[in-house]
Amino acid sequence: MFDNKTRTLVVVGAQWGDEGKGKLVDVLAERADWVVRYQGGANAGHTVHIGDAKFVLRQIPSGILHPGVRCAVGNGVVLDPDTLFSEVDRLVADGIDVEGRLYISDRAHLVLPYHKLLDGESSASKEIGTTGRGIGPAYEDKIARRGVRVLDLRHPARVRQLVERGVEHANGQLARFTERRADAEATLQLLERLTPRLLSLSQDVGLCVHQAIESGAAVLLEGAQGSLLDIDHGTYPFVTSSNTTSGGAAIGAGIAPTAIDAVLGVVKAYTTRVGHGPLPTEIPGDLGERIRELGNEFGAVTGRPRRCGWFDAVVVRYATRVNGLSGLAVTKLDVLDTLDRIAICTGYRVGDEEYREFPGDVTALEHIEPMYEWFEGWQQSTSEARTLEALPAKARRYLDRIRELVAAPIVYVSVGTRRDQIIGLE
Ligand code: GDP
Ligand code: IMO
Ligand code: MG
Repeated sequence: MFDNKTRTLVVVGAQWGDEGKGKLVDVLAERADWVVRYQGGANAGHTVHIGDAKFVLRQIPSGILHPGVRCAVGNGVVLDPDTLFSEVDRLVADGIDVEGRLYISDRAHLVLPYHKLLDGESSASKEIGTTGRGIGPAYEDKIARRGVRVLDLRHPARVRQLVERGVEHANGQLARFTERRADAEATLQLLERLTPRLLSLSQDVGLCVHQAIESGAAVLLEGAQGSLLDIDHGTYPFVTSSNTTSGGAAIGAGIAPTAIDAVLGVVKAYTTRVGHGPLPTEIPGDLGERIRELGNEFGAVTGRPRRCGWFDAVVVRYATRVNGLSGLAVTKLDVLDTLDRIAICTGYRVGDEEYREFPGDVTALEHIEPMYEWFEGWQQSTSEARTLEALPAKARRYLDRIRELVAAPIVYVSVGTRRDQIIGLE
């Protein structure tokens, strides 16, 4: 999708996360100068396969695996410094040169041990089925204006004051459901240990990215989670705590909305969701289980089994609208290779009424019945196809119908985990 006209490209998940954003960013980063994460944090798990090696990136942009690409963590991310450095050390141990090309926004908020403790213990987190990485509590502190930002680390007295206030607040919350308490001194010790390293990476990322764009650089903005997990546009309250949709990219990278040239939406050829909340096309029983095994649908971060469902065109059409998708990347087509029948949901039915728009009230989804269009399976391997013509006719028909229903062009089809297992359709 990068060309002379498209220099700043946002990549978003257009379902409930784990669509294969990591793979697409890795493929596109071949032609990028910068890759920037703009929201979320270590709740993300973006998988990239290179040869036999598998990398799961949590907070570092997936572009890091391409030598020479600069990677930045924007102000909109909530950064867990402990996890960040484990990730850096792991990459270095695997022979990836990170030195001098990783930048952390000085405005990014920190995820501290008390955020993780709260996320792990609170009943609200359990009801949603969060990743337990402290994401919600860290964003709560940010919005309540009691967060700790990277730039605060320059002032030890200020950090002490902020951490003491944060711990006091967290302990007030914890007292409602557990005996466990957060410890300000332990948090301060952790920060003291990590501060020199964090400050050495800290930058005004918004300014760096702006200057890169001005100079004509190709910039990828790597979304985390998926559009249906967006705090405003997702299946609230079963969502994450940030704006995962493309609108969040400008805010979270610290650039102007007008700087964005195009938005690529990544979708699986079916649907998955991890954690609780509605999934209208969920496939019960053995077939759901079979797709989970075929697609290896187990969380990259938590290892939890992902719930599997048919492709939901209502969801992806909605995501196309709220993100302004310029095109779609359809991943994991190969996972459907052996099925004899495949369905696409074209609308929802309640009694005699039919709905084609995704509802804002998730309780409405409890009573709906998905309307399905059925397709004969192609029952042939797609993993070696590198052109559209090389795909079985029945697979092309399936993709054509997705394109029609969603009203967005398909620009990539991914047919396997490896870098080369992709069909470019531009
Ligand atoms: P992300 O969070 O959107 O980056 O996605 P995840 O990495 O959490 O989950 C996607 C999973 O699907 C990873 O294990 C990828 O290696 C894998 N994957 C990506 N594209 C394809 C594909 O086209 N076919 C198959 N079989 N696996 C894929
Ligand atoms: P990537 O970037 C899939 C889900 C959790 C939970 C809800 C809220 O790999 O696609 P949180 O910990 O964010 O407060 O959890 O969001 N969730 C994800 N699901 N992929 C992700 O990230 C996710 N990040 C969070 O399972 O339902
Ligand atoms: Mg993931």
